[in-house]
Amino acid sequence: MKKTIRDVDLKGKTVLIRVDFNVPMKNNVITDDNRIVQALPTIQYVLDQDAKVVLFSHLGRVKEEADKAKNSLAPVAVRLEELIKKPVKFIPTTRGKELEDAIKAMKPKDIVMFENTRWEDVDGKKESKNNPELGQYWASLGDVFVNDAFGTAHRAHASNAGIAAHMKDVVAGFLMEKEIKFIGEAVDNPERPFVAILGGAKVSDKISVIENLLNKADKILICGAMAYTFYKAKGWEVGTSKCENDFVEFAQGLLEKAKGKIVLPCDVVAVKVAEEDAANDFFGAIEKAKETVFPADKIDPEYMGLDAGPATIELFKKELVGAKTVVWNGPAGVFEVDKFAKGTNEICKIISELKGATTIIGGGDSASAAIKLGYADKFTHISTGGGASLEYLEGKELPGVAIINDK
Ligand code: 3PG
Repeated sequence: MKKTIRDVDLKGKTVLIRVDFNVPMKNNVITDDNRIVQALPTIQYVLDQDAKVVLFSHLGRVKEEADKAKNSLAPVAVRLEELIKKPVKFIPTTRGKELEDAIKAMKPKDIVMFENTRWEDVDGKKESKNNPELGQYWASLGDVFVNDAFGTAHRAHASNAGIAAHMKDVVAGFLMEKEIKFIGEAVDNPERPFVAILGGAKVSDKISVIENLLNKADKILICGAMAYTFYKAKGWEVGTSKCENDFVEFAQGLLEKAKGKIVLPCDVVAVKVAEEDAANDFFGAIEKAKETVFPADKIDPEYMGLDAGPATIELFKKELVGAKTVVWNGPAGVFEVDKFAKGTNEICKIISELKGATTIIGGGDSASAAIKLGYADKFTHISTGGGASLEYLEGKELPGVAIINDK
């Protein structure tokens, strides 16, 4: 068990809180503030303990000076201020006198947030390479370190592992605690039947997750373009669908090892698009094309599968009824185009309506889909981690979790 903010005395202390505010933005406007919303309980709790809150996060990738402006956390500080209904003093730098003076001047219940930790990457990748001087410097700014950045827990950077190496009290925030509890328990000690649904484009992205879950789950429902690699492994025609030829043999091995545990979509929604049109404007071309449903083992050689069909939805529903633990990661089709989002939406709906089950979305596109569809509060837990939740599902120990003190 990891220590949390409940286990340390925070009164009057300067509390460094590493959050993951790496939120999607378009022209410096936040398009999804879920990660900020999810961090609020931790921030509020620390404020309620009469402590001083110093917040920091990475945002995007910063390779050169020119990347700094478009990866500034300033708009995030403004959004946080609106959400927490308190002033957030934003310091537009990652180190130096301005930051140190601002922290020295803080009173209990004040909030200071400093710039994108990856601005330090312009100078020899100090953040991403966990430069020891940088971790030590940031650690010197506070008394207690709270890691609430689950989304970044698969990275060992200066702003998590580096700081932790120089602090006595390293504890989890509420979001980190929740992520560890739900994803960790689902993988290590699930209530059964445990059904995992894995979608997305590539088998190669999910190899370790499938291998790990094969030993833990009772059923694995595969969907998304990943399914075509499995179809090929079964010797079926996949037409012009996305398929990773290099992984067909691997998929074959998995099917043999799974002994019926792996369930594949039994029909697909497909379209016929000219190769040239798809290469020029993929989304435009598939949007215009007329959809046809094929049984999974009878895809027309000229067609490209883009979504799970209606019989698959019924099949998945049958597999999911009665499940006590469900973990879902990855869309069932090209959900960016409305007419191919049906499979993803239906899966989301089925899971959200399951009674008496612990339902978890392992971050990424499936999390965005559930939030967009308004099902966010119908799941037990929607992970804020993309890569982090995948690595956790792989059974790996995440560096950002390992650094937190044990109870
Ligand atoms: C994420 O969005 O997955 C995390 O914030 C980590 O971001 P990164 O892949 O840029 O390290």
